Amino acid sequence: MAKKKVISALLTAGLVLSVNGAYAQGPVSGAPNQNAASAFDNKIIKKINADNMYNTVAYLSEVPRQAGTPGELRGVQYIEGKFKEYGYETEIQPFKIYSAIRNNVSGLLEVGGQDLKPYVMTGSYSGDVTAEVVNVGLAKAGTVPDSVKGKIALIERGDITFVEKIQNVFDKGAVGVIMYNNTGTSNGFGQAAYGQNIPAVSITRAQGLALVDQVKNGPVTAHIKVTGSGMEEKTSYNVIAKMKPNKNKDTGQVVMIGAHHDSVPNGPGANDDASGVSAVLELARVMANMPIDTELRFVTFGSEELGLLGSYHYAGTLSDEEADKIVAHFQMDMIGSKDAGGDNKANGLIMYTIDGKKNLVTDLASAAGARTALGEIVPYGQLGRSDHQPFHELGIPAALFIHSPLEPWYHTPADTIDKIDKQKLQETAEIVGASVYQIARPDTPALEHSRVAPQPVDYDFENRPPGA
Ligand code: BES
Ligand code: ZN
Repeated sequence: MAKKKVISALLTAGLVLSVNGAYAQGPVSGAPNQNAASAFDNKIIKKINADNMYNTVAYLSEVPRQAGTPGELRGVQYIEGKFKEYGYETEIQPFKIYSAIRNNVSGLLEVGGQDLKPYVMTGSYSGDVTAEVVNVGLAKAGTVPDSVKGKIALIERGDITFVEKIQNVFDKGAVGVIMYNNTGTSNGFGQAAYGQNIPAVSITRAQGLALVDQVKNGPVTAHIKVTGSGMEEKTSYNVIAKMKPNKNKDTGQVVMIGAHHDSVPNGPGANDDASGVSAVLELARVMANMPIDTELRFVTFGSEELGLLGSYHYAGTLSDEEADKIVAHFQMDMIGSKDAGGDNKANGLIMYTIDGKKNLVTDLASAAGARTALGEIVPYGQLGRSDHQPFHELGIPAALFIHSPLEPWYHTPADTIDKIDKQKLQETAEIVGASVYQIARPDTPALEHSRVAPQPVDYDFENRPPGA
């Protein structure tokens, strides 16, 4: 992490020497206006074309891109094809995802000839077992008796997760699970995980306590039958494109630009997040032939909508050494909606960090906002909910670029191409492009090459919840 710390320290001190070059141009007499784009910015921003981005969004949003479906794969292939066309070294990184199947689910739990009409836990294995019932309490690790082998485990809800409880008895050889509630009168709760191949049903607290009593008074046999339920394994993907600098001009550092390509199940996801993908591809296009001394790494993640699974998978594949080389992660998620952002300044654009603190990414991009199409300093706030999270957890300066408040179409079938605003796409792509190039352009100590001293801009924290 040493290099990153040095960069941050320089930024804080307003002394950005060899790594980042100028921010905004300082107000020195006879010098360019502080909001003016530099020659370096122009190399990038003059080439960014919103029509290209719009066309990408149009193509990707023709079908939903739910993770693990052919729609995702169609998007993945399109994205990789574009990266290749621009001359990048690409990789499609597959990873497994699991989802519950519920297909005319039915569940039976017979004890002493009576059906307790249980709830079938989400993702429960389908099966038919008859065995003695063993009360294993909360089923915490290390407390489950060996005697549950070949038997049905009676478990009380609470303290640890459903999946942990089921795993603990599964590991001891139990053939079925009956879980009873720790409060109230409901029996509808619980979920099982992939590979837990025993039927798991839930019952009310009253039913459970009655069963606990029966088991205390002598052996009790139960019959569990579950049909139509299970877990499905599918494959989702990350798409990675790299451009390495010339060996004789290489800082050894990496800057990352990301978005997620998956959508929610029935959403075409034009803004969420074909918009971010479109800017990733457009920046890859315009930066492909630029001189750089820092590796550019463009990534689109799969399964973001399932809990940031793609970005966590990607982050998990990085060695400590590789993670240490990454100096910044720019995440663009929902950057093109006509209907987002309200009346807020900067056209509604905001940069969210996980800890609510400024970092290298927000410092560069806020200033870039002032000297590119947007023409305004960009505020920042605190929020997770996207793929900047795993990078932050690795100690990498990261931020989410988004318009807030959100549009009403968020996660609906109405998140379609007609709601996309080319101007918003253009503004955000310019900001991220100018910021990235400030890091990646060959070492240009601003104090030597610029007529004016670099000057970090002052920008504000906004407590602006995104809504929805
Ligand atoms: N694009 C949204 C992220 C988002 C939504 C950011 C609202 C800021 C405000 C993203 O695709 C999403 O929907 N994320 C999930 C969380 C994720 C961990 C499953 C969400 O926010 O519900
Ligand atoms: Zn999103």
